[in-house]
Amino acid sequence: MASCSYFLLLFIHICLLLGLSFSEDPSVSYEFAVSYITASPLGVPQQVIAINGKFPGPTINVTTNNYVVVNMRNKLDEDLLMHWSGIQQRRSSWQDGVLGTNCPIPPKWNWTYEFQVKDQIGSFFYFPSLNFQRASGGFGTFIINNRAIIPIPFDTPYGDITIVIGDWYTQNHTALRRTLNSGKDLGMPDGVLINGKGPYRYNDTLVPDGIDYETITVHPGKTYRIRVSNVGISTSLNFRIQNHNLLLAETEGSYTVQQNYTSLDIHVGQSYSFLVTMDQNASSDYYIVASARFVNETVWQRVTGVGILHYTNSKGKASGPLPDPPQDQYDKTFSMNQARSIRWNVSASGARPNPQGSFRYGSINVTQVYVLKNKPPVMIDGKRRTTLSGISFVNPSTPIRLADQSKVKGVYKLDFPTRPLTGPPRMETSVINGTYRGFMEVILQNNDTKVYTYHMNGYAFFVVGMDYGEWTDNSRGTYNKWDGIARTTAQVYPGAWTAILISLDNVGVWNIRTENLDSWYLGQETYIRVVNPEPNNKTEFPMPDNALFCGALHRLQKPQDISFATPTGGNGSKMLLDSRTFKHTALGLAVLARILSPSGPRWPACDDGSFQIFTWLVGNAL
Ligand SMILES: *[C@@H]1O[C@H](CO)[C@@H](O)[C@H](O)[C@H]1NC(C)=O
Ligand SMILES: *[C@@H]1O[C@H](CO)[C@@H](O)[C@H](O)[C@H]1NC(C)=O
Ligand SMILES: *[C@@H]1O[C@H](CO)[C@@H](O)[C@H](O)[C@H]1NC(C)=O
Ligand SMILES: *[C@@H]1O[C@H](CO)[C@@H](O)[C@H](O)[C@H]1NC(C)=O
Ligand SMILES: *[C@@H]1O[C@H](CO)[C@@H](O)[C@H](O)[C@H]1NC(C)=O
Ligand SMILES: *[C@@H]1O[C@H](CO)[C@@H](O)[C@H](O)[C@H]1NC(C)=O
Ligand SMILES: *[C@@H]1O[C@H](CO)[C@@H](O)[C@H](O)[C@H]1NC(C)=O
Ligand SMILES: *[C@@H]1O[C@H](CO)[C@@H](O)[C@H](O)[C@H]1NC(C)=O
Ligand SMILES: *[C@@H]1O[C@H](CO)[C@@H](O)[C@H](O)[C@H]1NC(C)=O
Ligand SMILES: *[C@@H]1O[C@H](CO)[C@@H](O)[C@H](O)[C@H]1NC(C)=O
Ligand SMILES: *[C@@H]1O[C@H](CO)[C@@H](O)[C@H](O)[C@H]1NC(C)=O
Ligand SMILES: *[C@@H]1O[C@H](CO)[C@@H](O)[C@H](O)[C@H]1NC(C)=O
Repeated sequence: MASCSYFLLLFIHICLLLGLSFSEDPSVSYEFAVSYITASPLGVPQQVIAINGKFPGPTINVTTNNYVVVNMRNKLDEDLLMHWSGIQQRRSSWQDGVLGTNCPIPPKWNWTYEFQVKDQIGSFFYFPSLNFQRASGGFGTFIINNRAIIPIPFDTPYGDITIVIGDWYTQNHTALRRTLNSGKDLGMPDGVLINGKGPYRYNDTLVPDGIDYETITVHPGKTYRIRVSNVGISTSLNFRIQNHNLLLAETEGSYTVQQNYTSLDIHVGQSYSFLVTMDQNASSDYYIVASARFVNETVWQRVTGVGILHYTNSKGKASGPLPDPPQDQYDKTFSMNQARSIRWNVSASGARPNPQGSFRYGSINVTQVYVLKNKPPVMIDGKRRTTLSGISFVNPSTPIRLADQSKVKGVYKLDFPTRPLTGPPRMETSVINGTYRGFMEVILQNNDTKVYTYHMNGYAFFVVGMDYGEWTDNSRGTYNKWDGIARTTAQVYPGAWTAILISLDNVGVWNIRTENLDSWYLGQETYIRVVNPEPNNKTEFPMPDNALFCGALHRLQKPQDISFATPTGGNGSKMLLDSRTFKHTALGLAVLARILSPSGPRWPACDDGSFQIFTWLVGNAL
């Protein structure tokens, strides 16, 4: 028993030392005014969506378990919902910012998101989810840092740099939407933006004069963490920095086995962290490139983003040709092998300490299996639509979660097929019936000729396998059951499949969709509804007081006083400790008193005198 009390005392000591004992986490507030501004990223003036006048929007930079409060002011001329892509919104799909769960924020209204970034770390982004708005901007990076007490699996970088890349059209989202509505394809994008800026003039013929490009200034010899997200519409991009290795360290909330890449394919909706050491002699600046992947380079030359990496001791401008992309335009094997090489560092800590190694997903029995198959766009009822398993999703006018809450019937059907429909495709509000605490296997089968990315809200899933051809039961033999990465997006190569496993422990209604914006807009999505058969306010938070009503419930919505004062200056973010902190510190002291009392609770395996007690306490209390 001696070691037991030793670890207990050690634990309490650490808690008091860090002032963290059982206290509630701080809250971080942002004011986001979403409006149009005129910008000319590719030399052509156009209306883009800015946040607080900035394009891209400000970086949200918080720490595990922080409460994030964002007051969103819709200054557009159309509805708005902000989606926090990859943020799990544990127990609260009310804050998820997609049409299946939330009523849109009307023009001139504001609405305050309030959520906890519970048990998460990593690199993500946010974007407006309605009406094709992402094609006009409104996006920005979302970072969740480790708590100070949990080490990151690499030396603290000298700096933290965020980069958003994406294909871009000089037409705005309303014009692009019109093209899609009229049954046409968007065609080749007009370029690729890096942090909202056009290409550096690396070639006088290809790039017109007068375009503002991104410059990232670094100190020689230092190592930076560079976070890159592809926030574009539908183009897979190859990312590379001339003469510099990209040491991959993290993707969408999991630390990876660290490996060097000279370039990495970043598909739509994906985010990565690289550690980049400034180990070159700065004889000149270096190119940062994001170029379209799997296309005819001759034709797609202009769809290339070029920024500049500038050492403080640089001896001159970057010049000459761009670093080569992988030379395999028509062979996707290299890219798939690269994707398979991204594995989880199972010994690294994440949002919580990880003394025993990671969650052993490979030994859990699957309880539900869904094969979701896409196809190239089809005509349904005279409209060009996209499908998943033969169903083109139609958003209900009353959000699914709200309909459940208010017992509105007939809004959706819980009948999404486990295998693709074989009959003619149809338009439906058909939803997957997820079993709470089940373990779901989803096979994403891509029957189209381009790469798709899929994303699920509310969860990170394990990417356990991908291969060419049609998935069969035998394909399970190839699954990675040990260190498949847990992340929030997965690419599926044309004519290929990707298998993911999801532990359905987050109650709510969660969107599963393609991140390719054009295909999403035309119906390639559905929702997974996860309900606790014994509902309570612990497994799912109650509907927030400010929830909006629409559709069948629109009469319940009070009009908003739209004469709200406009906040001025800065990016409007501030840090505050709210009253919950004090309440929970008091609770913490009460719990400690109980622990110390002779009749206090007993700890598992105390007699082993092992380290387990300590880790149990840390794991459960912090
Ligand atoms: C979008 O572009 C069209 C012209 O193509 C223009 O008429 C319209 O005002 C623009 N809309 C917005 C919101 O910028
Ligand atoms: C709108 O913003 C005001 C502050 O300017 C805030 O008090 C109010 O709660 C916000 N409305 C909603 C619905 O979040
Ligand atoms: C994995 O994480 C551990 C623990 O932080 C770290 O020591 C190790 O270097 C990492 N391994 C790789 C291959 O990245
Ligand atoms: C995020 O905030 C931390 C301090 O809390 C800072 O060290 C880091 O550089 C910030 N990252 C970005 C990208 O702003
Ligand atoms: C610029 O691009 C054009 C078109 O691809 C090419 O013909 C030319 O050689 C390039 N110029 C330089 C200096 O590389
Ligand atoms: C990655 O490349 C750098 C040089 O850029 C090298 O110093 C480092 O050892 C490499 N790391 C790994 C894990 O290969
Ligand atoms: C270092 O700089 C010189 C020019 O100043 C250049 O010729 C040489 O190739 C550079 N070496 C490396 C390793 O980059
Ligand atoms: C790429 O496009 C060019 C111009 O249309 C064409 O001449 C060339 O054959 C194409 N290359 C391939 C490999 O298809
Ligand atoms: C998984 O299923 C097998 C039989 O199908 C059973 O023997 C095993 O105990 C189950 N494992 C768990 C962890 O439930
Ligand atoms: C949904 O699944 C649950 C089990 O998780 C089951 O009890 C219920 O009947 C199913 N509902 C429908 C409509 O299939
Ligand atoms: C699409 O599915 C059909 C039928 O299963 C199959 O014959 C065809 O090869 C698939 N095409 C692609 C690109 O996956
Ligand atoms: C959950 O909370 C709401 C409002 O906060 C309350 O009305 C409801 O009774 C609670 N439900 C349960 C099951 O505790």
